[in-house]
Amino acid sequence: MRESIKYFRFLILYCFLFSSARIANTTQDTITLGQSIRDGETVVSADQCYELGFFSPGTSKSRYLGIWYKKVAPKTTVWVANRDTPISDPSGILNINARGILVLLNSTNNIVWSSNASRSAQNPVAVLLGSGNLVVKDGNDNNPGDFLWQSFDHPGDTILPGMKLGKNLVTGLEWFYTSWKSTDDPSESDFTMLIDPRGYPQLFLKMGPVIVYRAGSWNGVQWTGSPQLKPNPLYTYSFVSNEKEVFYTYDARNSSVLSRVALSPSGVAQRLTWMDETHTWVGYYAKVRDECSNYSICGAYASCNINNFPVCTCFKGFAPKAQQQWSIYNWSAGCIRKTPLDCQHGDGFMKREAVKLPDTSHSRTEKYISLAECKKFCLSNCSCTAYATLDIREGGSGCLLWFTDLFDITDIEGGQDLYVRVAASEAEPDGIESERQPSRKKQFATTIVIVTSIISSIGVLVMVWIIYMWRKKLRNEVEGRCGLDNVDRTRQRIARRRQLNEKKLVIIIIVTCVISAMGLLVLGWIIFMWRRKVRNQGKTENGQDRYVNTEETRKEDNELLIYDLNTIVNATDNFADKNKLGEGGFGSVYKFLFRV
Ligand SMILES: *[C@@H]1O[C@H](CO)[C@@H](O)[C@H](O)[C@H]1NC(C)=O
Ligand SMILES: *[C@@H]1O[C@H](CO)[C@@H](O)[C@H](O)[C@H]1NC(C)=O
Ligand SMILES: *[C@@H]1O[C@H](CO)[C@@H](O)[C@H](O)[C@H]1NC(C)=O
Ligand SMILES: *[C@@H]1O[C@H](CO)[C@@H](O)[C@H](O)[C@H]1NC(C)=O
Ligand SMILES: *[C@@H]1O[C@H](CO)[C@@H](O)[C@H](O)[C@H]1NC(C)=O
Ligand SMILES: *[C@@H]1O[C@H](CO)[C@@H](O)[C@H](O)[C@H]1NC(C)=O
Ligand SMILES: *[C@@H]1O[C@H](CO)[C@@H](O)[C@H](O)[C@H]1NC(C)=O
Repeated sequence: MRESIKYFRFLILYCFLFSSARIANTTQDTITLGQSIRDGETVVSADQCYELGFFSPGTSKSRYLGIWYKKVAPKTTVWVANRDTPISDPSGILNINARGILVLLNSTNNIVWSSNASRSAQNPVAVLLGSGNLVVKDGNDNNPGDFLWQSFDHPGDTILPGMKLGKNLVTGLEWFYTSWKSTDDPSESDFTMLIDPRGYPQLFLKMGPVIVYRAGSWNGVQWTGSPQLKPNPLYTYSFVSNEKEVFYTYDARNSSVLSRVALSPSGVAQRLTWMDETHTWVGYYAKVRDECSNYSICGAYASCNINNFPVCTCFKGFAPKAQQQWSIYNWSAGCIRKTPLDCQHGDGFMKREAVKLPDTSHSRTEKYISLAECKKFCLSNCSCTAYATLDIREGGSGCLLWFTDLFDITDIEGGQDLYVRVAASEAEPDGIESERQPSRKKQFATTIVIVTSIISSIGVLVMVWIIYMWRKKLRNEVEGRCGLDNVDRTRQRIARRRQLNEKKLVIIIIVTCVISAMGLLVLGWIIFMWRRKVRNQGKTENGQDRYVNTEETRKEDNELLIYDLNTIVNATDNFADKNKLGEGGFGSVYKFLFRV
């Protein structure tokens, strides 16, 4: 009894001692002044999604302060504070001081890691937000612009929804990602993923100072070297580039679906999505390293195609600079012009289709001009070496210009067209001047429609006139035959004749209506076929339209496909009720799957 009272006293004392300084339970998302987090304790975001605490990665014994998904097992860490300064034992303590700085101490009270604060605060608190962002803010000031510090500004190897990849051009702060050394060691490896804002901003993967891979510049929809990135049901994404900042970011469409982009220790960036059913991270797309992904493997004015052997080919009008080295598959010297340029007397362009556009580190852009104006612009400056469409959305707009040799070009499906400056004798018609052609075709189509309309109108007028004359004749006939005698008989005859005539009239009207309707149908069909033809031609002839990504093109084609009745009967299981979706203005609507 005495023993237990003693124990009870001790317990009370213990609780008293620590309750003021320690977090009482693990469901708290805030660390306030005077509070601390010890190894073994955690902070959990209000939505129970993320957890902050101490952990040891893989087989490591070292302790790190990090953030991981609360509900995901095995533990998946998305951010590490002291990644280069591990704590050797479970004695770490995290505090927030009066200046609003997070401080991580080891057992000898040495500062192992600390955050930074741009300014002081009255009542600094650290909060783990539902986004996985650990922020230091002043009291209840929830304006992200006022945060004193946030972990999202100091990324590790994982891009979470809402995080940025890029650079703040005002403060110089860079949002770049560095992979772990290994799964057991979160310290910074040589691999970094970053956006270089020089020239026209580009996404790079570097190993130390060396560019390993260049995803390319932004074309309004994706990086020119990554046509795989496209609107999808999983996440939305955007690229912002202005005088204040340049960054790429994405957001989950459904926040309860966990999805992240991670840079692996081997330098592979991959999007991973958590599958609750199988308890695994499923990789969506990883840039498979092939020979062509090595930065500028072919040197200047050459294109890499992984389906060719050897993979490098000089552009048309260019030849290897060092033939000997080139023939033993050392392409680094690249290619040079066969015929020198002659800017004064006029050069031309060679079109290279479907490529990852060259390095834009020294490029210039003109946002609001067409491709034809872009060509003129490039011709007018003797140091311009190539041009391309800047933004491929809505048929393409703007102008991207190169003034140096062209490096790191790869033939890729869904790539863009590049117009390379060559001597006039090497130039080829590129179709840029014929841009207006589709509109001329449209004019022609409009003319046909108008002419047909006029003819139809005349037809209707003639029809009305015929009917009018008919009726008039009938009336005249009735008046003319009206004698004084035999009135009854005459009246009978006239009535019969009138009946007959009216019958004829009705038949004529019906026949004319049917013929007109058929005429209109034929006219409609002609117009439809015409527009379709014009649109398809526009797609293959008008260079800019070709940028439409394949999925979209396929979708459009599907909309225009005409299925024969047998196919539809088969596909809808003979118009079975189970396939019926409802009734629309055009009749019943059935669903069916069609394999493309
Ligand atoms: C605490 O950190 C300091 C500085 O990093 C280091 O010198 C010291 O050995 C560490 N103490 C322990 C117990 O790890
Ligand atoms: C903290 O921020 C100041 C200026 O905001 C900067 O000069 C300093 O280098 C930063 N310190 C650390 C450790 O990041
Ligand atoms: C979000 O995803 C969850 C889990 O997959 C699902 O239950 C929920 O219906 C989704 N919400 C929306 C709005 O799609
Ligand atoms: C290209 O990259 C691969 C893998 O990244 C590497 O093994 C290979 O040596 C590189 N090739 C050249 C020619 O640099
Ligand atoms: C490739 O050729 C360049 C000169 O064009 C030379 O400097 C380099 O050493 C060569 N590389 C190899 C691996 O032979
Ligand atoms: C040509 O373009 C370069 C690069 O933008 C520029 O420095 C140069 O002044 C231009 N030359 C002319 C004649 O416009
Ligand atoms: C539909 O076509 C497939 C093969 O084209 C055939 O096997 C199937 O029997 C057809 N179904 C009906 C209902 O005609």
